[in-house]
Amino acid sequence: MITALDHIAIAVPDLESAVARFLDDFGLRHDGNEVVEAAQTTTAFFSVPETHIELVHPLNGGGPISTYLEKRGGGLHHLCFRTDDIDADVARLKEKGYQFIGDEPTPGAHGSRVIFIHPKSCDGVLIELSEPSETQA
Ligand code: CO
Repeated sequence: MITALDHIAIAVPDLESAVARFLDDFGLRHDGNEVVEAAQTTTAFFSVPETHIELVHPLNGGGPISTYLEKRGGGLHHLCFRTDDIDADVARLKEKGYQFIGDEPTPGAHGSRVIFIHPKSCDGVLIELSEPSETQA
């Protein structure tokens, strides 16, 4: 069951200056940076009431965010819905004909389990489902 809009992710070509913008210019609370090896990204999270903003940047210059930046130079990348049972939601949505990127959830930031619904199943918008870790929830 989907329980919240967990975060909005922005692909950024320069992580340091983007972190400075959200921290110094916009005054948001910086929760820290985290490398997510499985997604080939470095992420930076900021808290805003009821949701977060995620900056995603290629890890070691590779991965899907690198391809995205080459094509678009940065931009709004995906919406993420928090779920309390990702396996049940994936099964339920697959039943309805939704296509996913990858067969099962993979490790996300903060020990979460995540999976992406293919944009062609959602009018061109990339949507992530995220089940927080026990300690995070
Ligand atoms: Co995300």
